[in-house]
Amino acid sequence: MDHLPQAAEASAASGGSVRIFDTTLRDGEQSPGATLNADEKLEIARQLARLGVDIIEAGFPVASPDDFAAVRRIAEQVEGPVICGLARAVEVDVDRAWEAVRPSARPRIHVFMSTSDIHLQHQFRKSRQQALEATRAMVARARGYADDVEFSPMDATRTAHDYLFAVLEAAVEAGATTLNIPDTVGVATPDDYGALIAAIRASVRGAEKTVISVHCHDDLGMAVANSLAGIAGGARQVECTVNGIGERAGNAALEEIVMALRTRADVYGVGTRIDTTELHRTSRLVSARTGILVQPNKAVVGSNAFAHESGIHQDGVLKERSTYEIMDAREVGLGQNRLVLGKHSGRHAIKARLQSLGYALTPEDLGRVFLRFKELADKKKEVSDLDLEALVADEVRTAVETFRLDGLQVTCGDPSIPTAAVRLLDGAGNLHVAAATGTGPVDAAYRAIDSIVGPSLPAPHRLAEYAVQAVTAGIDAIGEVHVRVAAGTRIFIGRAGTTDIVVASARAYLDALNRLIAAGPSVLQPPAFSRPLSAVGDQVVVAES
Ligand code: KIV
Ligand code: ZN
Repeated sequence: MDHLPQAAEASAASGGSVRIFDTTLRDGEQSPGATLNADEKLEIARQLARLGVDIIEAGFPVASPDDFAAVRRIAEQVEGPVICGLARAVEVDVDRAWEAVRPSARPRIHVFMSTSDIHLQHQFRKSRQQALEATRAMVARARGYADDVEFSPMDATRTAHDYLFAVLEAAVEAGATTLNIPDTVGVATPDDYGALIAAIRASVRGAEKTVISVHCHDDLGMAVANSLAGIAGGARQVECTVNGIGERAGNAALEEIVMALRTRADVYGVGTRIDTTELHRTSRLVSARTGILVQPNKAVVGSNAFAHESGIHQDGVLKERSTYEIMDAREVGLGQNRLVLGKHSGRHAIKARLQSLGYALTPEDLGRVFLRFKELADKKKEVSDLDLEALVADEVRTAVETFRLDGLQVTCGDPSIPTAAVRLLDGAGNLHVAAATGTGPVDAAYRAIDSIVGPSLPAPHRLAEYAVQAVTAGIDAIGEVHVRVAAGTRIFIGRAGTTDIVVASARAYLDALNRLIAAGPSVLQPPAFSRPLSAVGDQVVVAES
């Protein structure tokens, strides 16, 4: 079995490298509305491997049969990184996590147990002793399966230090190889979090045999600063998500940590294995698949991150880039948006370009993307990588298409009554036609779609968010539409991109409605992570000790 470098060496106070533990597919997927299907998770996991992350936390296998299947597929198909599955400190979780990750050449089980009095008393109704014993027993159980076991004391930053250290010692004795210290509620400051990591390294017996890991949430906007303080305190694994997505205000942003370590190597003195030129693409993929847009002023990957508006700044950058830029846009994969394709480019050139961007399409998908490329190249002289990626995102649907847009016609203007007629094709090949009026062409189209699709939906729904953005500059740009549709306890995202934004709007809405139809009555259940143990997984309930 291929192992990570030994803990003792990796947890040295300075030098060496920090392991990047990506939890986009687990903690990141806990962002409201970010539910990903198994194909999307696999696609993101492949890109994370290409980015060079050390560990992929692929999911929480006991949460549902779908979560289990997605983790298992990633363990079977994604090579390179360690593949990790999350488990509470209960038997059924540990067993399920192992079943899911075991096909990987490098499997890891991540066991967690709440340790703060707030959690133990109010949520789990357990004594400190019971939590400590459950930790010992379940880490040992996980170690019986895998050589690589991580333990997290949830809500560590609100846990009494003497008790926290005792639980960590029990985890080490039971065989944990990584000790992760979650700031679950994002309450820490850099000073106290860095000091906590240093104290754990100094005081927890056996800590030197493990890798200490940081896991910070962004409730006070300090997740990245706290993670870096933890690294300065001796942590050698950092848990983070692409674009910082995650519960509530999110997790520490992977791209920010990686670029901070790289740009301020003089301060931190440790590197990562990340291929930074893949950062931007990874960010775009995660945004497209989760439907969570990246704010323009987001550090490293926001669309304004390398834009200079003021005359003084522009003047400086034109004379010497370093006057106002601390990173080169090319380091994060920008500025390589080559304009290589035009209307005379053939299918082979498109296929080759897509392959070099990391897409391996089926012949059918490639055929559809190629047709769309030809249409676009007729409208735009030059088709960029960003355009091509938008076409792939639009054509290669990862959700079952119960309804497909077959035609759309709108009338609008001032004065006029905005009207839309839509024609949808269902899975059985039947055509459905409807027309409606609305406050504008998009509203009219959505009402017409609702009148056809409504009876197939498992729950009442509402449009919670609608956003359009241009993929590239220029009046002929592809417009990408993202929508969020709320139904029951869930939010479904939909996206589509084409040069006609009303058509893109209709397709994006149908994309979300198709996902809602595919989810079926499960939308009326509470989200998996918050369900009581007896309701999760498809196995018999195991009492918590
Ligand atoms: O924030 C947290 O405490 C977690 C644990 C499950 C590691 O995500
Ligand atoms: Zn977390």
